[in-house]
Amino acid sequence: MAGVSLRHLYKSYSKNGPYVVKDVNLDIRDGEFMVFVGPSGCGKSTTLRMVAGLERVTSGEIYIGPELMNNVPPKKRDIAMVFQNYALYPNMSVFENMAFGLRLRKMEKHAIDTSVKANARTLEIEHLLQRRPRQLSGGQRQRVALGRAIVRHPQVFLMDEPLSNLDARLRVQMRSEIIELHRRLETTMIYVTHDQTEAMTMGSRICVMKDGLIQQVGTPEDIYLTPANMFVANFIGSPPINFIEGRLLPGKGGLYFHTARCALPLSPGKSETLLRQGYRDKAVVLGIRPEYVGIANEAAAGEAGPDADDETFQLRGTVHFTELVGADRYVHLRAGDDKLVMRAPAYERFEEGSTHRLVLNAGFMLFFNKDTQETIA
Ligand SMILES: Nc1ncnc2c1ncn2[C@@H]1O[C@H](COP(=O)(O)OP(=O)(O)O)[C@@H](O)[C@H]1O
Ligand SMILES: [Mg+2]
Repeated sequence: MAGVSLRHLYKSYSKNGPYVVKDVNLDIRDGEFMVFVGPSGCGKSTTLRMVAGLERVTSGEIYIGPELMNNVPPKKRDIAMVFQNYALYPNMSVFENMAFGLRLRKMEKHAIDTSVKANARTLEIEHLLQRRPRQLSGGQRQRVALGRAIVRHPQVFLMDEPLSNLDARLRVQMRSEIIELHRRLETTMIYVTHDQTEAMTMGSRICVMKDGLIQQVGTPEDIYLTPANMFVANFIGSPPINFIEGRLLPGKGGLYFHTARCALPLSPGKSETLLRQGYRDKAVVLGIRPEYVGIANEAAAGEAGPDADDETFQLRGTVHFTELVGADRYVHLRAGDDKLVMRAPAYERFEEGSTHRLVLNAGFMLFFNKDTQETIA
């Protein structure tokens, strides 16, 4: 097994063409499950294909373990790749598909037989070994593609959107099976997806990309709770984070986030940090995730508290529409020109057109520089 290191990796598909991968630097640890996530066209597949040796590197270095791979042909990289379209050999049986790579490596016949059968058992495709790919469902084909990869015991697995062709239910099931497979094999995996849920649930770490550039690398928790910029904050999380433009003005006890309609006190820690960084009187963007938006208990609103004095005029929102999503209800609100989504339990009901006083959890407010869109740490 081995880790993978990418050093100042660039890729352009034509001589004077634009770079579609730009200065990608990443250390993937031995045994890690690294997910590349980002919108279509951001360079995920290109990066993965360079690791596989299917695309040439324009500049930069790729290491698998301690070895420089730039000029090593794909066959000698000791990797196995699983594609979205499975790429099975249509005229071979499932057994032959799985055995193919082992035969190329001149493994002994009996050993091939044992290995294919053992791995087929793990993937629950043992009963399909004599079938042809066209006689299989999509999910079964994907299992065969996985099986063909794991029999080879490669140093690194590369997977490019392997679940995209499956229906939603099967996708969720295969997700957990791949996680389980990784736990058992403890082999380094690089997994590409455009689906943020897949990234969040599968990755030990996630690498978020946009326009060929890495935006942030971190654990799912890091990325969700402390996104590096507005792009990451918005791309990760469903329903997406709420953004409100406003200005930071001083008030009693610290900074307040002001818009035309509200003034919200920051947490003492945030207030201090933003003051220290010179954000007093500056325009910023507030980010707040839908689960940290709530509705004030109107009955308790009369009680004097630090939030109830003159300096805090609260945000009010009108219910535009609601969506029931399993255990959650997404409440779409309008506060003047601002749109907000609140995640509420499904059992709470909201009348369209009703207006409520909104409470944003100060401990989970994020602030972004309006010009650079970077998170203000
Ligand atoms: N073989 C190719 N020739 C020219 N341009 C390509 C080729 N493959 C991908 N691209 C371009 O490179 C960019 C990144 O593509 P890709 O790595 O496939 O993105 P992703 O996998 O994130 O959707 C896109 O703009 C795409 O159009
Ligand atoms: Mg792709």
